[in-house]
Amino acid sequence: MYVCICQQITDTQIREFCKGRSVSMSEVRAELGLASDCGRCGKFAKQIMAEVAQQVDTSSIAYAA
Ligand code: FES
Repeated sequence: MYVCICQQITDTQIREFCKGRSVSMSEVRAELGLASDCGRCGKFAKQIMAEVAQQVDTSSIAYAA
């Protein structure tokens, strides 16, 4: 889904850019051009970035039986 209409940036692009690392809004803006026009997408983009940051890679977690 489009997050930034002005620059035609999708949530998938934001998630891929942020995946597995901590990034700032400035980095996302510099790389993707997000929020570089009207800025209305900034708040929603930050929510997506927060979601990605909270996702934990569970593939290496071992559970005791
Ligand atoms: S919607 Fe992203 S800059 Fe306008």
